[in-house]
Amino acid sequence: MTDHIQTGLADGVLTVTLARPEKKNAITQAMYAALSDATERARADDAVRVLLFRSEGDSFSAGNDIADFIALGSQGQQPLDMSVFRFLKSLADLDKPAVAAVRGRAVGIGLTLLLHCDMVVVAEDALLSAPFINLALAPEAASSMLLPAAIGHRRAFEMFALGEPIDGRTALAWGLANRAVPADAVEATAADLARKLAARAPNSIRKTKRLMRDAEALWTLMQREGEAFGSQMSSPEAMEAFMAFTQKRAPDFSKSG
Ligand code: COA
Repeated sequence: MTDHIQTGLADGVLTVTLARPEKKNAITQAMYAALSDATERARADDAVRVLLFRSEGDSFSAGNDIADFIALGSQGQQPLDMSVFRFLKSLADLDKPAVAAVRGRAVGIGLTLLLHCDMVVVAEDALLSAPFINLALAPEAASSMLLPAAIGHRRAFEMFALGEPIDGRTALAWGLANRAVPADAVEATAADLARKLAARAPNSIRKTKRLMRDAEALWTLMQREGEAFGSQMSSPEAMEAFMAFTQKRAPDFSKSG
């Protein structure tokens, strides 16, 4: 149980709120478990027509909690046993529309989650980044395929390798978002879209989404990515990157071989 994920159902829209603003909505294992519960419920519950991801505070999400990475990496935990993989599977399997309302930072899984949302509303000044290589990790959530498919290989490679953020206007221009609006209009715009989708013929929309993506292939890729991610997570170069983050310094990969 965690208070850091909140859910509410109204008008066919299951709203899932990332509510850990003091840590920029960094996602812990407990939060992944709650996100999995919500996403699995969205698929199974006929009362849910649309899933809407939103956040409290000034960031969408700073990605995976790095303290968790340190704990799990030093335990040598197998990534496929981690709660994050249950969440990823539930996203791959979700055949109802998902919408995201993104203000501020969307880092790591805060960005790759958006690749599984069918409609994304970003703030014009939002900052989206995928700094897996800065942390000596590897892409997850099928992003090694979905990000280049959305924006092209070279832009995706640069986002993975340099980890620098793009803003919301760029995300719109590159096809990562449906709308880029002023930050104070993000919530209402996304809620409006979610309500519109909830009023559409539910079986038709599910069949359309199923035809547009191959859930099985996504899950197969997520597991392959998990092997690379897992072996990196317990590597000395990743430990150096995690410690550098907690010590608020730049990592030193000069001795990594
Ligand atoms: N895991 C754990 N804690 C995190 C976190 C994360 N991913 N991201 C932010 N936090 C914590 C910070 O440690 C800080 O905690 P403190 O107040 O106890 O020191 C708090 O959240 C606020 O973050 P801060 O870095 O001070 O905010 P900022 O506005 O200067 O920067 C970010 C925001 C998102 C740019 C920055 O926090 C960041 O780069 N986070 C890491 C992102 C990342 O690499 N995620 C993993 C991707 S795979």
